[in-house]
Amino acid sequence: MTETNMKEMFSRQTIARRVEELAEQLNADYAGREVVFVCILKGAAIFIADLVRQLKFDVRIEFMKVASYEGTASTGKIDFSLDIGSDISGKDVVIVEDIIDTGNTLSFLSNHLAAKNPASVKICVLLDNPTRRGEECLSPDYTAFVIPNQFVVGYGLDYNGKYRHLPFIATLMR
Ligand code: IMP
Ligand code: MG
Repeated sequence: MTETNMKEMFSRQTIARRVEELAEQLNADYAGREVVFVCILKGAAIFIADLVRQLKFDVRIEFMKVASYEGTASTGKIDFSLDIGSDISGKDVVIVEDIIDTGNTLSFLSNHLAAKNPASVKICVLLDNPTRRGEECLSPDYTAFVIPNQFVVGYGLDYNGKYRHLPFIATLMR
């Protein structure tokens, strides 16, 4: 399962502890409200599953699918293939994404959702790799871990479709 060119960055236990802290933060910020969580497929599927099960306010879950990566190099092009299925006007929305790198994907997504007139749109990411991001670019409202500029896999994140099932997060040496 693990390969020699893989080095663990965050263990299963470390991830679980941090996701629990994020859930506590969301429970404090959204107490008594109803929130639409928008899961960005496929990378955020495992993260959102662990996160929402610890939330104590009313939650709805929607799915969107975009892809801007092939292998480990950004293609710069965003492929948008699944939109949310319900009306979010007047709703509080939290976008849940695996990782923010250049910020292109999340800028595109938050603009797209903001155009549907929600009450608010916040961004929750598992990982933030801020190295390649311009200063004027958006930053996430909730972040589990800030990472150095390395390509990572596991806990939902893939390399050409592989490694999403790993319970830990690891760097992939190229
Ligand atoms: P951005 O548009 O440059 O912010 O790229 C974000 C998207 O690229 C994420 O949704 C991921 O699918 C993918 N991505 C960026 N960095 C990594 C990584 O280290 N491992 C796996 N996927 C990544
Ligand atoms: Mg992705």
